[in-house]
Amino acid sequence: MINRAFTVAIDGPAAAGKGTVSRAIAAHFGFAHLDTGLLYRATGLRTLDGTEAVEAARALRASDLDDDDALRTPDVAQAASRVAALPDVRAALVDFQRAFARRGGGAVLDGRDIGTVICPDADVKLYVTASDEVRAERRHRELCGKGHEVTREQVLADLRSRDERDSARAAAPLKPAPDAIQLDTSEMSIEDAVAAAIAEVAQRIDSA
Ligand code: CDP
Repeated sequence: MINRAFTVAIDGPAAAGKGTVSRAIAAHFGFAHLDTGLLYRATGLRTLDGTEAVEAARALRASDLDDDDALRTPDVAQAASRVAALPDVRAALVDFQRAFARRGGGAVLDGRDIGTVICPDADVKLYVTASDEVRAERRHRELCGKGHEVTREQVLADLRSRDERDSARAAAPLKPAPDAIQLDTSEMSIEDAVAAAIAEVAQRIDSA
């Protein structure tokens, strides 16, 4: 446990394992966790019934993040990536994320721009990656486990198109912060990736 604010920023491309690593860090150190992708997914989901994107982002409530199954479909992932390119949508979500990051007791936020834009002064920054093939394999398994009928090729195409859009956009593009620790999990088991991430955070806590 930690008494003051302590922020861990975790960024990386789609399905790189950010969620698993973030949840494990949060559980290990007793920190709060915010999956910021859910903010964009919930905004994207609202636009699928015709709501305008900025209006959807401004109207978000914490309860909109609760229906995990509805938010983690491939269609919603694409809608999220489209609304996430709009600067006014991103601006509408900044204050909530920064307030979460500054709470006492430690916070882990994962997304695309946490270490670069939302929390440039984060205590620890990790940039989690894996090869396209490995990410597609992991996400395919996850979606099939939830009953979605998708092929591995469709999953790979979704990841690649989102990564391209997320990296090419002008507003808060996906890229590692210069001071981020890179963690390539392509050849690592999830246990090893989690252990490596926890070791980095523990080291920063000790030296703080
Ligand atoms: O779980 P996965 O890595 O596939 O995606 P996610 O983290 O749930 O994010 C869904 C989409 O939201 C991404 O493709 C990005 O376009 C957007 N996003 C963003 O722009 N900034 C963030 N901090 C988090 C997500």
